[in-house]
Amino acid sequence: MDASSKTVVGDAPPTQPTGFDFLTRKSYVPPYWASHLNPIPSHVFSLGHLPTPIHKWNLPNLPNNTEVWLKRDDLSGTQLSGNKVRKLEFLMADAVAQGADCVITIGGIQSNHCCATAVAAKYLNLECYLILGTSKVLVDQDPGLTGNLLVERLVGAHVDLISKEEYAKIGSVTLTNILKEKLLNEGRRPYVIPEAGSNSLGTWGYIEAIREIEQQLQTGTGHLKFDDIVVACASGGTIAGLSLGSSLSALDAKVHAFSVCDDPDYFYDFVQGLLDGLDADVDSRDIVNIQNAKGLGYAVNTSEELKFVREVAAATGVVLDAVYCGKAAYGMMKDMAENPMKWEGRKILFIHTGGLLGLFDKVEQMGTSLGNWHRMDLDEDIPRKDGIGKMF
Ligand SMILES: Cc1ncc(COP(=O)(O)O)c(C=O)c1O
Repeated sequence: MDASSKTVVGDAPPTQPTGFDFLTRKSYVPPYWASHLNPIPSHVFSLGHLPTPIHKWNLPNLPNNTEVWLKRDDLSGTQLSGNKVRKLEFLMADAVAQGADCVITIGGIQSNHCCATAVAAKYLNLECYLILGTSKVLVDQDPGLTGNLLVERLVGAHVDLISKEEYAKIGSVTLTNILKEKLLNEGRRPYVIPEAGSNSLGTWGYIEAIREIEQQLQTGTGHLKFDDIVVACASGGTIAGLSLGSSLSALDAKVHAFSVCDDPDYFYDFVQGLLDGLDADVDSRDIVNIQNAKGLGYAVNTSEELKFVREVAAATGVVLDAVYCGKAAYGMMKDMAENPMKWEGRKILFIHTGGLLGLFDKVEQMGTSLGNWHRMDLDEDIPRKDGIGKMF
């Protein structure tokens, strides 16, 4: 059965959400302020539970009169969640439009993007091929079922492991092309989604998120206006959409990116490429400020960062992943402590980009003394009284 013949995949007119829009394909009309961009996608698939909520985030130790609000993109779904959903809404629509019968993508062993792609592909009845980079010592072993791998393997993604050294030496473009050629030779119709879904088409995901935030502010009761948007950056796709959308729309909030894996100069150039691919005619350096928050390196955490993740969860109930949002929020709080004047009195919207499954990879490092537990005190002769239910 090909993707277009699956019953859930239908065309729906661009109307108000009805609750039946999930997994439907709609014609895409951009916000008026983005209508000069080129190319404009023709269709979008509804894959995320949108709009995601925005609420005040009572972080301790903020500078005077600073408010932090949280955009809960981690709640854009459970299996298919986080920022990747927004990019995949456009990328998957393109894959289906091109008649693909499978998708290929690539990332690290705990890539949230690869997991989201595997789930989205299965929803649309496409097969998913993942190339995952892992350490040299683990590349010939069963990758296990921790975190994102559990979901990827449950939904039947094909996993090809490579070492991090091979990944760095050969590069993601060549690696995905090798797999593409192989599948083409087998008579398949593969569609390649780049690392993290970050190309100019994927950028529309966060241009749309800006429209969503604008609409939420318009329909909200208070007269809320955000001065700043703060978000993690690992490939640059999310900040490209956010900063372009914010600068073009009435939102006009300053976007601050905290990089978790590379240096700001690399990202200014990469984002520039995405913007040029949309004929945006803007300089990335004018619309986004990128700071380094990579610490010990990509996906490697210091004990202070993990302590921060624990403290934020215990103080606010919001669980951050350690690799992306945890580092970005840690970087933001560090900057606030070092430069309080820069942030005083500002209203900040932090985008929670998801990644919770990746936290399972940090269980050991999180520490055994996490939280409180003890054996319940019970007298030996307490009589049993039947309650409701038959579980025990
Ligand atoms: C949870 C999470 N947050 C943030 C990011 C960074 O987004 P981007 O790759 O678009 O920079 C990623 C992925 O790279 C992610 O998985």
